[in-house]
Amino acid sequence: MKIKIFDTVELSNAYIINEVVERLSTTCKVLGLATGSTFLEVYSKLISLNKEKRICFKDIKTFNLDEYIDIPHDHSQRYRNFMNKYLFFDINIMQDHIFFPITENQFNYEQYDDTIKEYQGIDLQLLGIGHNGHIGFNEPGTPFDSKTHKASLTEETRRMNQRFFNHLDEVPKHAVTMGIQTIMDAKEIIIFAYGLAKAPAIKGMIEDEITENLPASILQRHPNVTVVLDKEAASLLTKKY
Ligand code: GLP
Repeated sequence: MKIKIFDTVELSNAYIINEVVERLSTTCKVLGLATGSTFLEVYSKLISLNKEKRICFKDIKTFNLDEYIDIPHDHSQRYRNFMNKYLFFDINIMQDHIFFPITENQFNYEQYDDTIKEYQGIDLQLLGIGHNGHIGFNEPGTPFDSKTHKASLTEETRRMNQRFFNHLDEVPKHAVTMGIQTIMDAKEIIIFAYGLAKAPAIKGMIEDEITENLPASILQRHPNVTVVLDKEAASLLTKKY
């Protein structure tokens, strides 16, 4: 794992954006995307760079990590709507180059891994981490060899995500997510996390044993992963990086 720790979120995001721009201009044709507050600055900067014609999405395919089940189609927290608002509507991506594990009309997540393979796999996967170490919606206990599947959200995750909804009852109980194996099959991963609340999960992911109880710990076995942290998220690490 390559670990990059920055004093501020702004510096971390600047590093990530440089990496993404470099990949999109060279090797990256298939980009894995994630949702969550961590990504907003990066997506906003990608929009600006696209408007300035410094990056182009015309030939890029995107695969999102996950999507809620049982959420109204027009709900702002439906991940497709989130991505439309914060990225897709403002960049020159082709609509038929955007992939989600479930869409309004199709419940075809079992084919998602095959579809990714048809496009020769994900070149770069952007990834966040949940407070309990989940990646995508792979909660603790998810088998490391899982493919894209229907997942139940833990109460903890539902409570964490409650801030985006009016009430806990509104937070979906299920989602479809790329599996851990699906994520591990990406050729390169950049995972980023900011803030003190993520520090325990980050410590477990980088320095503790690899265990299905902390899904992100499997990333220790990925050959090309960069972890980008601000100093708060890195605050429980005991080694020098
Ligand atoms: C959700 C997503 C994850 C994301 C996590 C963290 O649970 N399924 O992919 O990493 O939220 O979100 P945030 O960036 O808001 O902390």
